[in-house]
Amino acid sequence: MLSGSCGGRWIAKVINGIAGIDEREINELNVKSLRKSLQRYNVTDNICGIMIIAIVNQKGGCGKTTIATNLAAMFAADGREVLLVDADPDQHSAMNWCADRPEQLPKIHSSSLPARNLRKDADALRQKWEMVIIDGGARVTEHAHAAVAAADWLIIPVKPSKVDLDSTAQFLDVVQSDMAKRDDLSGGLLLNQIQEGTSISNAAREQLSGWDFPVFKNVLHSYVAFSEAVWEGQSVVEYQPKSKAAEDMQMFLKELKRAMR
Ligand SMILES: Nc1ncnc2c1ncn2[C@@H]1O[C@H](COP(=O)(O)OP(=O)(O)OP(=O)(O)O)[C@@H](O)[C@H]1O
Ligand SMILES: [Mg+2]
Repeated sequence: MLSGSCGGRWIAKVINGIAGIDEREINELNVKSLRKSLQRYNVTDNICGIMIIAIVNQKGGCGKTTIATNLAAMFAADGREVLLVDADPDQHSAMNWCADRPEQLPKIHSSSLPARNLRKDADALRQKWEMVIIDGGARVTEHAHAAVAAADWLIIPVKPSKVDLDSTAQFLDVVQSDMAKRDDLSGGLLLNQIQEGTSISNAAREQLSGWDFPVFKNVLHSYVAFSEAVWEGQSVVEYQPKSKAAEDMQMFLKELKRAMR
């Protein structure tokens, strides 16, 4: 992975949370409630507190919305306040997913920000939210440039096809200058819709390994549960917790969190 920057804002949050509690109350705090507080401030999994993660690629249909919505739900399930930003000026799929989300599931806030606000308000977003996930649109619009400029982390989904690989290479060329301006930006390519054992999947892995850009070790396979879960306003983990799709997402999230520490 490219290098990550680790802020200490969660420490300030924990300290602020503890200030104001008198000594007797601290003595009475039980382990369970302390663990809950630590979880809320992202201490238990050791990842840096506030993050803006952008899922981007100019190629349509490579899995940006699928990955953005799943990550949003999984971070919300960790107890974080998550904002899902729909930066797709054409479709608003992430906003629709949020609208379809069953009420009893962890709440995710959604917003459709104009590109100029995305760039301008990045610091304000970091102050307000514990995790911001940006679902980028297809094509290299002003939104894609703004998402790259605003993010701490880029996830670039890529499907194993010649057209997708060519388009992704072109995208990396185009946003290279945005990325070069940011020495605190991390990211990686994530293979999506893999069909294990097929020659095209093997060829795609091999081709990506020759690019001068980090690649996540975990991949997402092609499972219908991914499409069904989006339909229901859920993550695959919520929709079918024991499915192979859920396992893929959990493995990927584990790798992402490890890289974010
Ligand atoms: N791992 C997967 N397995 C099966 N289907 C998938 C997977 N990932 C994505 N899909 C399906 O592929 C289609 C495109 O995915 P998605 O909408 O997430 O792509 P996108 O990059 O956001 O597209 P767009 O560029 O149009 O915004 C959807 O029907 C989605 O359900
Ligand atoms: Mg989309």
